[in-house]
Amino acid sequence: MKVAVVGATGLVGSKMLQVLAERNFPVTELVPVASEKSVGKEVEFKGAKYKVVSMADGIAAKPAVAIFSAGGGTSLEWAPKFAEAGITVIDNSSAWRMDPTKKLVVPEVNAEVLTKEDKIIANPNCSTIQMVVALQPLHKKYKIKRVVVSTYQSVTGTGKKQLTSYSTNVKACRVKWLINTRLT
Ligand SMILES: NC(=O)c1ccc[n+]([C@@H]2O[C@H](COP(=O)([O-])OP(=O)(O)OC[C@H]3O[C@@H](n4cnc5c(N)ncnc54)[C@H](OP(=O)(O)O)[C@@H]3O)[C@@H](O)[C@H]2O)c1
Repeated sequence: MKVAVVGATGLVGSKMLQVLAERNFPVTELVPVASEKSVGKEVEFKGAKYKVVSMADGIAAKPAVAIFSAGGGTSLEWAPKFAEAGITVIDNSSAWRMDPTKKLVVPEVNAEVLTKEDKIIANPNCSTIQMVVALQPLHKKYKIKRVVVSTYQSVTGTGKKQLTSYSTNVKACRVKWLINTRLT
């Protein structure tokens, strides 16, 4: 299967590449896609190097599936263009989750709702995915009426840029603290 990973240079995209390799997903050809500034950079997949391409070239490559993790705005703009070209989009962003015309799928829970006509498939937020996998068998047996949830999201959920800025700030705080404790 020819697979495009859209957002391949990001935190989620690089994890996707790692998981596709670990699970031995039948990728016959990988198409890593990212923003214009990353075009030509290389990403590694199963020991081989692949050049990052633009969105337009990602469509032109005609993958069977494009797994999107490049932000909601990018998905809203580009997922329909991939879908129009006959490519099945699996979208990891929040762009289509609340759209009643798109199916919101967690494979372990409701994969059976999908048909070949579904060209943009949404998936929920990460904390929801793992929760519904655990809740589904309970719901089947006992019918859950209401769930009260509090989530504490990690800083990594904000992406590569914010993670770097967080690390820099933590380091700066440590240095300030060390200077202050030595001076006082
Ligand atoms: N469903 C879930 O479980 C889950 C969990 C976490 C995150 N997410 C979603 O995954 C997405 C990515 O998160 P992240 O943490 O990986 O962010 P990130 O580290 O900032 O990476 C963003 C990726 O998107 C690319 N990108 C940004 N703007 C683009 C554009 N206009 N055209 C093409 N590519 C573009 C970036 O390319 P450059 O490197 O070239 O900028 C990079 O590859 C977000 O939408 C986030 O909400 C979903």
